[in-house]
Amino acid sequence: DLLPGTITQWELVDVQGVPLPSSTADHWDQIWGFQARPDDVLICTYPKAGTTWIQEILDMIQQDRDTQKCSRAPIYQRIPFLELCRPPLYTYCFKEAEAMSSPRILKIHLPIQLVPPSFWEQDCKVIYVARNPKDTAVSYYYFQQMNHGLPDPGNWDQYLETFLAGKVPWGSWFDHVRAWWDARDKHRILYLFYEDIKKDPRGEIRKMGQFLGRELPESVLEEIVQHTSFENMRENPMANYSTVPSFIMDQAVSPFMRKGMVGDWTTHFTVAQSERFDDEWTRRLEGSNLHFRTRL
Ligand code: A3P
Repeated sequence: DLLPGTITQWELVDVQGVPLPSSTADHWDQIWGFQARPDDVLICTYPKAGTTWIQEILDMIQQDRDTQKCSRAPIYQRIPFLELCRPPLYTYCFKEAEAMSSPRILKIHLPIQLVPPSFWEQDCKVIYVARNPKDTAVSYYYFQQMNHGLPDPGNWDQYLETFLAGKVPWGSWFDHVRAWWDARDKHRILYLFYEDIKKDPRGEIRKMGQFLGRELPESVLEEIVQHTSFENMRENPMANYSTVPSFIMDQAVSPFMRKGMVGDWTTHFTVAQSERFDDEWTRRLEGSNLHFRTRL
């Protein structure tokens, strides 16, 4: 069992140029060989893009908005996180996913070139969600502080450089969002933005339903919007990670459901930092028609 004192910080290991948790690297052959099924739905995000939010939305769609069924287990067991197989486990990974009955919803944070090939062979549907890098960086900074399995982020000034250099778990935000964007027409990928879901949750959830082959009536959409609002998810023990022991995720340091907004970065970035970030952003996404909103 997982006991206080057994949690050690992840060492990041280079897997084909991407810094990943050492446990992911240790299981890489099994992860790469994961057998997808044609009706699997894959959620993919760079960390802190709102993964948990999408997970809850998709579970609500799949469970026909039955909130009882969506309370059957914590979100990290309802939807396995394929490549996070750090023993001793608190989240479910590819091992538990193999034993799950279909239809399955699965989660990864992998950059596109590291997606197990059978997802493409089976032509699985993938929902990718991206969030603007400034809010992502702030959210990741707090998450690395509260999650004792993650590398200590240092102070904010230092962290910003680490983030821009892509020396964080799952690597460069820029490479991640861009490569997924470039692939969106080559596979069955629905590419969504956190900011759009914040602005129009009903419209974006309708889109997710349509992508999954379900026309959701207005009343159903409304129930899903309510159940998956930030305020409701913050109070939902099956969604807010409060079931993870505090020696792993210390929510007194920073709650998992922290702010849930667009534009919190403005209270963290100095003007100089924002400009530095914008320069890097322009350079790294040059030639791409991928655009982000940093305010609503
Ligand atoms: P903040 O730290 O900015 O608050 P992930 O699930 O990928 O780890 O992302 C976590 C981020 O998504 C956190 O951002 C969290 O608050 C936010 N989030 C979670 N549920 C949300 C919801 N229902 N609505 C809006 N944001 C949500």
